[in-house]
Amino acid sequence: MNAQALAPNASTERAQQESLLSPRFYTTDFKALEKLDLSPVREAWDRMMDEYRSDGNVDHFKRDATFEEELQELPEPLRSEFIDFMITSVTSEYSGCELYQEIEKRVNHPDLKELMAFMARDEARHAGFINRALKDFGVAVDLGFLKREKKHTFFKPKFIFYATYLSEKIGYARYITIYRHLEKHPEKRFHPIYRWFLRWCNDEFRHGESFALIMRANPGLLSGLNRLWIRFFLLAVYSTMFVRDHSRTVLHDALGIDVDEYDYTVFDITTEISRQVFPLTLDTDAPKFRAGLSRLVEISQAVERSQESGGVFGPLHRLGLRARGALTFVQLYLHPVKENPLQILKWVATATLIVGFGLMSAGITEGWYLQITGGVIWLTAAVIMKDKALIVTNGAMTTVGIIGKLFG
Ligand SMILES: [Fe+2]
Ligand SMILES: [Fe+2]
Repeated sequence: MNAQALAPNASTERAQQESLLSPRFYTTDFKALEKLDLSPVREAWDRMMDEYRSDGNVDHFKRDATFEEELQELPEPLRSEFIDFMITSVTSEYSGCELYQEIEKRVNHPDLKELMAFMARDEARHAGFINRALKDFGVAVDLGFLKREKKHTFFKPKFIFYATYLSEKIGYARYITIYRHLEKHPEKRFHPIYRWFLRWCNDEFRHGESFALIMRANPGLLSGLNRLWIRFFLLAVYSTMFVRDHSRTVLHDALGIDVDEYDYTVFDITTEISRQVFPLTLDTDAPKFRAGLSRLVEISQAVERSQESGGVFGPLHRLGLRARGALTFVQLYLHPVKENPLQILKWVATATLIVGFGLMSAGITEGWYLQITGGVIWLTAAVIMKDKALIVTNGAMTTVGIIGKLFG
């Protein structure tokens, strides 16, 4: 261990801290990843790989001439909150980079290897760019130290897919929302890094799409008991973001952003996107759900206050608060979710088909109408999902059914 590893600087220490809210480093079952089948999405996959290859952001993460000029002294506590935000960001960018690099190194699956190399390339640029900005404040994070010393959480591949898909998409939604806001209020842009967010968010969007394709190619990941896991990850990612953002009031005030409004906008964008893959979405507009999230913020602030004030009964008090936090999380988890309309469409189609076949088998020829209706609804769902195999199956079966009736 070198001297630096023994004595990390304060920002590296901050990045290394483990809490419920801090970004994590992950490891996974690399062998299981080898078996991943991508053939159902081959065409979309190849198109996406071409996009990665063309590398539209190759020139983006470089400072331009005005970057230095725009840097300004930030008053406290804005300076501390901004640095804290940047440390969290560099940690999560780098944790993505490290995970993708590790997968690339450890698997032989050629498609996965190629994808991971591209995503690691992008995340390394993102982390490097933030870290360079932290250096201006004299507090760059020692990324090598983090890689060696930070605790790695083991996640099964499917959990990696849910968690990284969501964090990439939520990252996209955050960057684009802040960018659009500052476009309208340029006087609020107190740091030049925000000017980079537009092209930056395209990378995050594409990373999310890569995981979306992986999950779509393996629909078992999106149904049955896995629905419960998806629900859990949605809530974990949303609530972590909500609590963390509400701890940075000065930063958001300086940007002229109402944290509540900003977070709910980010949720809306993420929900809209994730509905293309996940079978369910959280009902973030429901007053009860919102009250639960606000309660989590209050509890987290009470824990912080208790930590600061110390006292003999402090630990006991915090234990009680954490139990209340856990209970609130469970209540939020049990809050009714919204079924994906596509999911409803598929079930209606399936039920119609089954009844149609039943009637036909019983000799009731009117069942034919239900069969055709079911086929058409399934075809619609298949077109929305852009699932070629399903389009061909349902399209051909419905056409044959109609031709049979007309000419049979
Ligand atoms: Fe990134
Ligand atoms: Fe990313």
